This record gives sequence, C-alpha cells and structure tokens, in this order.
Amino acid sequence: MKICANSLVAVFGVIAGAAVSAQDQDSYDADNYATCAACHLPDGAGIPGAFPRIRSRATGIAMLEGGRDYLITVTSYGLMGTITVDGAQYFGIMPGNSAAMSTEEIASVLNYIVFELSDSETTGIDEFTAEEVSSVQSAVASKSPAAAGEIRKALTTSHGDDWP
Ligand code: HEC
Repeated sequence: MKICANSLVAVFGVIAGAAVSAQDQDSYDADNYATCAACHLPDGAGIPGAFPRIRSRATGIAMLEGGRDYLITVTSYGLMGTITVDGAQYFGIMPGNSAAMSTEEIASVLNYIVFELSDSETTGIDEFTAEEVSSVQSAVASKSPAAAGEIRKALTTSHGDDWP
C-alpha cells in the first residue's frame, strides 16, 4: 500500500511538472494574430516592399524606451508614413484594430509577436496586459495611423541605430 501511494504521488508530480513546462514553452497562442498574419505572414517575416517584417523586430522595439507604447499605439490605431525596414522603404497603410479587438486581444497579440515571433532574447521584457493597453489608449492624443507615423519618426530619431 505504501509503495502504491508513493508511486501515485510520483505520477502526479510528473504530470504537474509536464503541464508547467508545456505552458512555459508556449505561453502565448496565435489566435489573435490571424488578422495580422494576412499581411505580416504567419511567421512575421512580412513581404519585403509591401509589409514590413515584424519577426524579432517587435521584440527589439519593446526593449526601447517608448517602444511598448508605440507597439500598443500601432496595433490599436494603425500606421501610415514612409518607413524604412531592412533597407527597404514602405509607403503602406496599416489599419487600426481598436474597434475590432478588445484590450485583452491586443495585449494577447502583442505578447504573441514579442515573445513567440522572436529569434532573439526576450528576458526582461514584461508581459503586455489589458490594463497597460487601455492606459496607453487613453493617453494617446491623436488616434490615427498618421499620428502613429509621427511617433515612429520621433522614436527612430531618438534611438538611431538601436531601432531594429
Ligand atoms: C492590411 C495589412 C496589415 C495588417 C492586417 C496588419 N498590418 Fe501591421 N503593418 C502593415 C503595414 C503596411 C505597415 C507599415 C506601414 C507604413 O508603411 O507606414 C505595418 C506596420 C506594423 C508595425 C510597425 C513596424 C515598424 O517598423 O514600426 C507593427 C508593430 C505591426 N504592423 C504590427 C501588426 C499587428 C500586431 C497586426 C495585427 C493586429 C498587424 N500589424 C496587422 C500592414 C498590416
């Protein structure tokens, strides 16, 4: 009986351990990314000249001062304005998502692109939450793709070569 009870404890221990590590490895699901994948592609590589790569770049942006607010702003209100990514110029318009997506969904999509669509180190980056999304949304004065383009211009100027 004693042996039996011990092995049951051992089995439950293994199951609990497996569940925890599975969650660690795949914490953020792609559900809310489907809408973005239409342009940025499922792996975030984008289409050079049409849709910029966000793979690993969202992670780099999240690490810079002002970067998190920028990611929330672009995902919420879109982006317009000439930008250069990987040496190619983009004159596109990304539509905003604040009407179609809740603050939870926007936080979830940002966690997916920053933590899952990344080939670089994500240690030290805080998880995005619905609360953070909603506080940034309230703080953004001009909620338009063009206004996000102006924020981007200021950030690329202040961060220079650190901007991914
Ligand atoms: C209809 C196509 C389209 C969809 C859908 C789309 N994007 Fe974009 N995205 C773009 C384009 C085009 C740009 C660049 C805009 C420009 O040229 O100024 C962009 C830019 C970005 C940037 C800024 C990159 C940088 O270098 O500053 C981020 C971040 C981003 N998109 C994330 C997302 C996320 C997250 C979603 C889904 C919620 C999404 N996009 C959906 C087309 C799209």
